[in-house]
Parts: sequence; C-alpha cells; structure tokens
Amino acid sequence: MSISLNAPEYVRHEGLKKWVAEIAAKTRPAKIVWCDGSQEEYDRLCAEMVQAGMLQKLNPAKRPNSYLARSSPDDVARVEDRTFICSEKEADAGPTNNWIAPAEMRAKLDELFDGAMQGRTLYVIPFSMGPLGSPIAQIGVELSDSPYVVVNMRMMTRMGKKVYDVLGSEGEFVPCIHTVGAPLAAGQADVVWPCNSTKYIVHFPETREIWSYGSGYGGNALLGKKCFALRIASTMGRSEADGKSPGWLAEHMLILGVEAPWGKKYHVAAAFPSACGKTNFAMLIPPAGLAQQGWKITTIGDDIAWIKPDAKGNLRAINPEAGYFGVAPGTNKSSNYNCMATLRQDTIFTNVALTDEGDVWWEGMTKEPPAHAIDWQGRDWTPELAKEKGVKAAHPNARFTVSATMNPVLDPEWDNPEGVVIDAFIFGGRRSTTVPLVTEARDWAEGVYMAATMGSETTAAAMGQQGVVRRDPFAMLPFCGYNMAEYFSHWLELGQHLEASGAKLPKIFCVNWFRTDENGKFVWPGFSENTRVLKWMLGRIEGEAAGREHVFGITPSYDDLDWAGMDFSLEKFLTITSIDADAWRKEFELHSELFDKLAAGLPQRLLAIKAEFEARLGN
Ligand code: GTP
Ligand code: SPV
Ligand code: MN
Repeated sequence: MSISLNAPEYVRHEGLKKWVAEIAAKTRPAKIVWCDGSQEEYDRLCAEMVQAGMLQKLNPAKRPNSYLARSSPDDVARVEDRTFICSEKEADAGPTNNWIAPAEMRAKLDELFDGAMQGRTLYVIPFSMGPLGSPIAQIGVELSDSPYVVVNMRMMTRMGKKVYDVLGSEGEFVPCIHTVGAPLAAGQADVVWPCNSTKYIVHFPETREIWSYGSGYGGNALLGKKCFALRIASTMGRSEADGKSPGWLAEHMLILGVEAPWGKKYHVAAAFPSACGKTNFAMLIPPAGLAQQGWKITTIGDDIAWIKPDAKGNLRAINPEAGYFGVAPGTNKSSNYNCMATLRQDTIFTNVALTDEGDVWWEGMTKEPPAHAIDWQGRDWTPELAKEKGVKAAHPNARFTVSATMNPVLDPEWDNPEGVVIDAFIFGGRRSTTVPLVTEARDWAEGVYMAATMGSETTAAAMGQQGVVRRDPFAMLPFCGYNMAEYFSHWLELGQHLEASGAKLPKIFCVNWFRTDENGKFVWPGFSENTRVLKWMLGRIEGEAAGREHVFGITPSYDDLDWAGMDFSLEKFLTITSIDADAWRKEFELHSELFDKLAAGLPQRLLAIKAEFEARLGN
C-alpha cells in the first residue's frame, strides 16, 4: 500500500517531490507531513509530544512556553566513531575521518532505512542555512521521523514555507534524511525517546547527501548543523576554489561584534572545540572596568560561520544558523547573564533537571542547589546524592534550544545577507597546561600553523573518554568533510589569495582560558574577563598595544593588559602565560604525530614553520 504524498500546492519542485516519494517508499511511514514552519504547527507538535510524554511543559509562571525533553541515556551526544565521510576516494576523506566506500555504505543504508519509519510520521522540513536568499546561504530539506527534530530545526534554522519561494521549481538543495531507527509495529506503544543502539551519521560529499540513522540528539539529528553547515559546506567551499576564486570557508566559529571606545566596530570569529566556550564568548558582557570605558559586545553567531571573500578582498562572515543549541551546565547569571536572559522563555531544554516548581536546573546554575529535583533520567535527585554518589542532576552535555532573536545582545547585523567583515580570528583549546593565555601569530601562515596543531581536552559534547588531550585542528577535527591536510592548504591558499589582492588580512590569535593550578582549579577567571584579552588583540590590530616576541608568536607582558577593576597578580599572570621549554618540546612531538598522520598532501610550509619554531626553542 503506498501512502499519499500530499504535497501542498506551493511546493513546485518536482525533483523534491519525487525524492520525498522515493524515501517514503523506502522507509514506509504511516503518513507524510509537509512542515510550514508556522507557530501553529510548532505549538501543535509540542502539544502532541507532551501528550506522548516526549516533552514536559515547564511551569509557565517560571518559564513561559518552554519544554523539557529527556533523551535516552545512550543518546546524549554526537557519535564521532559512527560518523562517516563516504567520498569516492578514501584519500579525499583523509586520515582523520571514518571512511567507507560509497557503494558499501549505500547497501548498508538501504538495509537500515528499509521500513525504518513504519508507524511514524515523515516530516518534510525545508530550511535555509543563512538569511533567505543571501548569496552565501544554502538550502536543505530534511526528512525526519522525529517531531523533536522539527521543533528544534524551527529554532535553529530559517525553516518553513518561505524556503520554497527561494527554491522555486528547479533550485538546488541538500537532501538530508534522518530516522530515529525505531519502527513501530501496528498497535505497538511508542517509547518516550525512540532511538537505536546502531547509529550511522553518513555524508556523501560528492553528491552532497546526508543520511542519519539511530539517534535523535543534537548534531546527530539536526542535520542543518554539523552535518550540513560544517561537513558538507566545508567541501562545497573548498570545491569552489580554483585559480580565480579562493572558494569559501565553513568553520566551527562564533562571530561577535565589538565596539571599542574609540568609536570603531570590529568583528571577530573564534574557533574553540565543542564545549570549550564559544557560546559564552559570543554573549560576553565586558567587566565593569572596561564597560565604563565604552566596550560593548554583541552576538552574530555562537557555533558556525560561513566566510567568503568579497570583491574588495574582505572576508565576510554569516551565521548560517538562526538559534542556539547550547551547553546548559555551568551557565548562570554571573558567568553568562545574556544567555540566562535568552533562556527566560520559549526554550526547549534537553537533559537538564526538573525542579519541584516545574522549572529547570543544572550544575552551576545557582550557588545553592535545589533541595530536591528530578534528574535528567527522571529519577529523584538531592544535593546529598550528588555529594555521596556523584550523581549529576543534569547531563554534562545537557542543552537548550532557543531562537537567536531571544538574545538581548543580538547584533543588528546578525541577519545581514552580506555578512560582516572579519578583523581577527581566534583559536583556542581547553588545556590545563602548556598553552599560554594568548599568542598573536606573526603572520597568516604561522597562524594557520597554530590553529592546525591546536590540542584540546575532550568534553561531554561527544561520546567517548573525556579530558584527554587530542589534536583538534581549527576545532574542526570532527567536522571537516574532507582531507584535513587539504583543508590546511585551503587556509594557506586563501591567505595568499587575499594578500595578492592587496587586502588587509585578519590577524590570527591563539588563546587558552583553561590553565589550572596545582589543585586543578582554573587560574584565569575567564568569561567576562576574557574581554581584557580581546582588548589587547584589537590594540594589536591598531598597532597600539605592546607585546613581546617568543618562540611561536607575540604575547602581552603583564602591563600590556588592562586590569581596570580586576585584581589579578603578576604571579598568577605568569603561571598562565609561562612557556615551559620541556613541555613545548613534547608538544612539538605531538605536532609531529599529527603531521605524520596527515603526511600525504600536508603543505610543506607547515613543516618549515615547525622547523623554525623548534630551532628557536633550542634543544
Ligand atoms: P558547543 O556548543 O559544544 O560547540 O560548545 P561551546 O564552544 O559553545 O561552549 P560553551 O560556551 O557552551 O561552554 C562550554 C563550557 O565551558 C561551559 O560549562 C562553560 O561554563 C565553560 N566555559 C566557557 N567559557 C569559559 C571560560 O572563559 N573559562 C572557563 N573556566 N570555563 C568556560
Ligand atoms: C558541538 O558538539 O560542537 C555542538 C553540539 O555544538 S552538537 O549540535 O551536538 O554538535
Ligand atoms: Mn559546536
């Protein structure tokens, strides 16, 4: 029995309809719903999920129009070991990606998707990554059997009917197919969070397709985000590079606007690995001492940037997303006031704790924990349980989904289809040792070297061991859709292209907010105090801030940072800025390991820079 396609008359794209029919024939859903992105649709789906137990409505007096979802305990984060780049040639995926031959993967997917949506609804979700119609934007259509995905995609992207106007009858779109992989037999009751212990997050870069099986969570299921806006988009941007055009970049970067007291506005893009501070940095409130001087920060994006040179050679960036899927734990009124304000209403929380008043709570949200709560797995939780057994109320990767327009410091340019001009790039990892607070690269290529060799301790944002240092080049290790060595070349070539066109290249900086003392405590208070580092960077751009050259770049001395209103001793400053020669010799060995792994196609320029750095360090 075939089901009715039921496409609304405003969908004029025959290719799209044919594809939906094909996927429906394969996955055999009970029905097809074409999402229009309206408020009514959102409210109806939320009500249905409340009915089914997948969402709980929070107390409207405490958290208006907001919901809590609890995922299955084994579906709480991205699954990097189940993520595949299926290019025709293995070398094109490169040694840092999981690769399976496309034919073999397609056979596997055929088997997995056969009847996978039985008993469920197939939702057709049209979305634009980037402002509708922007020259940098791209369209995708996700077919998903998860209503949770629909409501999240509505906040995270420009989703709905208006996308079909841009798509027209022939427009290009990236097909994204998602199933939770939990077909329902006739009459079978559903579980609260359907998913499958088998998971596949698959990308075909040549045909620009995404197939996701078995997970309903975050980056595994909201396919516009990491799958499209980073893995597929990075290959698109690289493939558009030819002799004439340098192509474009899809990066794991926040974008912020910063107004300096001297009346100039700057835009900065910063790449930190998952759960290493992008959302927090993007919503920063300058500390009182600097706010008084007139420093002001606004958010353009908190996770992803698409960056393209314009005709003048300026690098222009857009935020392809329209919402934030951010880390809840650690967020509070003093660490990130703007974020707490963003979350006051109209938010979907996933895997946080539920208080007895029907509001949410997570570790670090308030100084005093509630006396009792229901934890992220639906069990009773008390502060005593936490103390005695280490039980967490919220999962460490608990998240909120909220529309960008709820952010009180949203930059007025955030939706500008032309994007904003980037003045500086920042790269940063989570390192308890070795890496100093801030370093300015002497030039573009040395900046590329620093970003390429960046290491960071793993976090709860991905399944697997936490707190182990791994190389995470450009914070893109899990997100680059092609060979990482080739990606380094792209960055180097882009710099050369811009230089040749006479453009002023953005400066590149590396930071580390996470050095710890002998008790394992962070020495640098971070958060709003990071504005001091930002001020130094902009001072460097204007040629006004002083710095001192060391082995691999330029760092501020104590007096080069503005300490207005902050008490931070020289001694502490030295512990977070010191460069230990022995530790760096070991660090360079880790750079070698990465370069050996990427040897095929690695730009020789990076090896030359490494040799210079090592010579400067001495033996
Ligand atoms: P993804 O959404 O996974 O890409 O993460 P993100 O890079 O946006 O990280 P986010 O800003 O959500 O921060 C992750 C964790 O790091 C939170 O628990 C924060 O409280 C913590 N964090 C953020 N900034 C700082 C900082 O400057 N210092 C310290 N010590 N912790 C920070
Ligand atoms: C990340 O892990 O970098 C995230 C969350 O931003 S997810 O959407 O799951 O990728
Ligand atoms: Mn991220």
